[in-house]
Amino acid sequence: MTIPAYKDPARSVTERIDDLLSRMSLKEKAGQLNQWYNLGPEHYDQVRKGEIGSGLLANSSTAGNDHQERVFANSINEIQKIAVTESRLGIPLIFGRDVIHGYRTVAPIPLGMAAAWSPELIQAANAIAAKEARADGIHWGFSPMLDIARDPRWGRVAEGFGEDPFLAGKLAAAAVKGFQGNDQDSIPQQFAADRIVACAKHFVGYGAAEGGRDYNTTEITRQALHNVYLAPFKAAIQSGCATVMSAFHDIGGIPLSAHRYLLTDVLKEQWGFGGFIVSDWGAVWELINHGVAADRSRAAELACKAGVDMDMCSMVYLENLPDLVQAGKLSAARLDDAVRRLLRIKFALGLFENPYADPNASQAVHLLPESLATLRRLAADSMVLLKNNGVLPLRSDKLAICLSGPLADRRKELFGCWTPDGQEEEVTTLKEAIAGRLGPETWLHHYELPDDAVKLARSSDVLILAIGESAGRSGEDNCTATIDLPAGQEALLESARRMEIPIVAVVFGGRPLNLTRVMDWADAVLFAWHPGITGGLGVADVLFGDVNPSGRLPISFPRSSGQIPLYYNHRPTGRPMPANSRRHSRYVDSLDSPLFPFGFGLSYTTFEYGNLQTSQVPQTPEILVSAEVTNTGNRAGTTVAQCYVRDIVASVARPVRELKGFERVTLEAGETKTIAFRLGPKELSYLDDNGNEVFEAGRYRVWIGSDSNAELGTEFEISTDGR
Ligand code: NOJ
Repeated sequence: MTIPAYKDPARSVTERIDDLLSRMSLKEKAGQLNQWYNLGPEHYDQVRKGEIGSGLLANSSTAGNDHQERVFANSINEIQKIAVTESRLGIPLIFGRDVIHGYRTVAPIPLGMAAAWSPELIQAANAIAAKEARADGIHWGFSPMLDIARDPRWGRVAEGFGEDPFLAGKLAAAAVKGFQGNDQDSIPQQFAADRIVACAKHFVGYGAAEGGRDYNTTEITRQALHNVYLAPFKAAIQSGCATVMSAFHDIGGIPLSAHRYLLTDVLKEQWGFGGFIVSDWGAVWELINHGVAADRSRAAELACKAGVDMDMCSMVYLENLPDLVQAGKLSAARLDDAVRRLLRIKFALGLFENPYADPNASQAVHLLPESLATLRRLAADSMVLLKNNGVLPLRSDKLAICLSGPLADRRKELFGCWTPDGQEEEVTTLKEAIAGRLGPETWLHHYELPDDAVKLARSSDVLILAIGESAGRSGEDNCTATIDLPAGQEALLESARRMEIPIVAVVFGGRPLNLTRVMDWADAVLFAWHPGITGGLGVADVLFGDVNPSGRLPISFPRSSGQIPLYYNHRPTGRPMPANSRRHSRYVDSLDSPLFPFGFGLSYTTFEYGNLQTSQVPQTPEILVSAEVTNTGNRAGTTVAQCYVRDIVASVARPVRELKGFERVTLEAGETKTIAFRLGPKELSYLDDNGNEVFEAGRYRVWIGSDSNAELGTEFEISTDGR
């Protein structure tokens, strides 16, 4: 008996897709584009009829209290078997889940990961997440989130890589490769058995939600779209990201899930994106709420025509696409194009040959010691030391430590948002981590009640206060009207201050917080984000000096909520006057500057940058900018050398500074290294309103240093051909 061409692995994917498409009914095509959540026995009939193409795993991954027993693989297999053996064409389902920062081995929140400025570590962390998730039967992770955010009140700032398009772009590319395992910068033809499909989201501009309120409307100019918001997505696509999620919100009245210009003209045509676009949850039917579609049929028509290929949890594609095609409102070619894009990924995953998950696979790959070690390293490297008057690092013997604060002995709070597969009891708390490493004659007093802590702290050498945000205070639908610390925490710190012993504030958080008072009252401040399963250990590694902190802020920290939006790469104004002069853009009741600039972070040693030079790279249109960096302190450490550029005169006003390069540089005490960045037309051009690169000859200013306020700078000239 001959098997149909689409089931024959010896055929090319194109042949297989052509053959399959030729056999599919309109309803089966629409069914492929229909994703539904928590598929169970009540959905078996629909699967049998070919009405569901993808499952979204939105439920818990564990059964009862026994966390060894993973239920995903079994329930996935049960329904997959129906799709494969009982539906007419036997097309396997693709299963997606929110694998956002780690899987069972929970990594730091993405904003924390970004603070490590290490594409290598992000790639490694995502490879671990992919391996763990795939072992549970998951094919597709809804990550990385690439929304540039300039408003820390927006709870989802925790899920992204911060405010800078260049940094976010580099990390996006690494995140995609970590998930997908592709060496080439293209969508994998075949995914390895320990990799998953990445999904760049939320396309695009979701982080610009007005007032920092989730799902809110946005106004974004074409300039900002192309040069800021789209940039990390472009980097993800250029590194081979296989799927993209269209966002919930609208830009200037056009909801993103009906945005033809962005989804089709830019993403699919201009950038040549060959994967598929899935809407965010319910975003297709929400076109009715947006007021651009009168009913579900029109919502399906608008979204599909705009370029959304798969409908996440609206059911409107299944209900309406066949009729829309039959009525001539939607072209059959567009429907086929959407199905083709999806099938290509299903074939690349090998689902037609290996549709099932191995229920025993997770035991062998979850929580491996080497995975925990990598994430501990990432957690430690993500910590940003904001102040240190010498109290850190702590000794580990002959020391009486008082540990207090609401987050001192908490597990879940170390996870942060979106950790459906993390198990609380697998977390090491800060208290456990500190206790576990204390040497002889060291005392750790831990007090739950702030009052006691304040009283008893007097007899201690140092007070560590673990403060900041709980895990549930950021992430989706967790926006705050201010960036102040949760109620009572400043008061706790103020009363602790009266004990007159050194205070180390360890601040956990999913967003930049107003730390003005903390800076006044604490002797050392370590910003720890939500550092994940090994986060307590990572904090202790830094507090005791095993790891010299090297984290750098991927987002500016304002002095108050009133300064928002505040970001380093803003445009100049017509009034760039000295800070103390009158009639320039400023407040009368606050300094203009952030509390901490983008890129900022201290170390237990000090670094000095000098000897900035520029030279033409022979035979190229590029300028080489180099500087020397010296470790001027007395211990080894790592600095993140950052290169910023300003286009002094251009056809449109360009930002006062833009990051164009960075490098983690590790130096022994007293050691000097030369670092260099190449700047050519590619780095120095900007995008016009249509997304075309514009390179303008003339003078540029360049700075190299340790943060976005770097003062070591010079100018260079570059001509039209880059010479
Ligand atoms: C809605 C969120 O906006 C998105 O980030 C997530 O991936 C989907 N729900 C699926 O859970």
